[in-house]
Amino acid sequence: MEDALFKSPTSRIQTVANLIPHGTRVVVDVGYDHGRLIALLAQQRPDIRVIGVERQPDAAERFWRRNRLPPEARDRILLLCGDGFEVLGHQTPEVAVLSGLGERRILDAAPQAVARLNRLVMAPLGNRALLRPYLRTRSWTVVEERLLTQHNRYYQVFAACPACPSDTAADPETWLFGTGLFEQRHPLLAAYLRQLARQLEPMVSHADEKSHDLREFCSRLGPAVELAEARCRQRAGGEGRSDVKLEFGGGPSEGACG
Ligand SMILES: C[S@@+](CC[C@H](N)C(=O)[O-])C[C@H]1O[C@@H](n2cnc3c(N)ncnc32)[C@H](O)[C@@H]1O
Repeated sequence: MEDALFKSPTSRIQTVANLIPHGTRVVVDVGYDHGRLIALLAQQRPDIRVIGVERQPDAAERFWRRNRLPPEARDRILLLCGDGFEVLGHQTPEVAVLSGLGERRILDAAPQAVARLNRLVMAPLGNRALLRPYLRTRSWTVVEERLLTQHNRYYQVFAACPACPSDTAADPETWLFGTGLFEQRHPLLAAYLRQLARQLEPMVSHADEKSHDLREFCSRLGPAVELAEARCRQRAGGEGRSDVKLEFGGGPSEGACG
């Protein structure tokens, strides 16, 4: 049953949507671009008001032209043009989605808006591998994790909450790449980490001495691959944990921390 779920993963956008917890009233999607997440939330989550922020000036016009939504869905959407959280004004979303853009710069630029959030949902690109150490230094804890493939690419999607019980007890080989993915014995994990190592290798060889985090991260990749492969073998051998919730096609998150 678990493997059947892994073989028919939900799309990246749906996976992001599923990590927005029940009970959320306002969510901001920073860098909404094509607006697929906003359109999907408008259709699936009538309980949520969605603010989209995009720095492309024509993004809103494009969104409304492509998405013929009923008036009640349109009324729940606010599209703003600008840079990150800067344009939010008096809007106070509880959840922010940052998917496929410069997450650290955007978060650092708006500490007050970020402090009001109770959840971040992130789908960083492969070369943004250092996001987890960054979040940890700001006391955000990753609380839910997903890994999927779409169009022959791997995507990690995770949710982080502030001031949650920390996962510092987890060893570096697991928390750096996703403690939850190791716990799930995720069948894509080893292949994903091998690909990450291939992608980062050229960056490391050109990195200067200041790139301590990147070097540290890459030095952990080898042991992490071995661990992931061992977990997968255990899984294939029928030792998969039955207490771990594998949520691929499931509905919205129950929101472990808010
Ligand atoms: C690679 S696209 C990702 C789109 C979508 N979030 C997704 O995951 O498919 C990144 C988008 O973020 C926008 N963007 C990047 N930095 C931004 C910022 N600081 N404020 C607003 N939009 C931003 C870009 O204009 C671009 O449309």
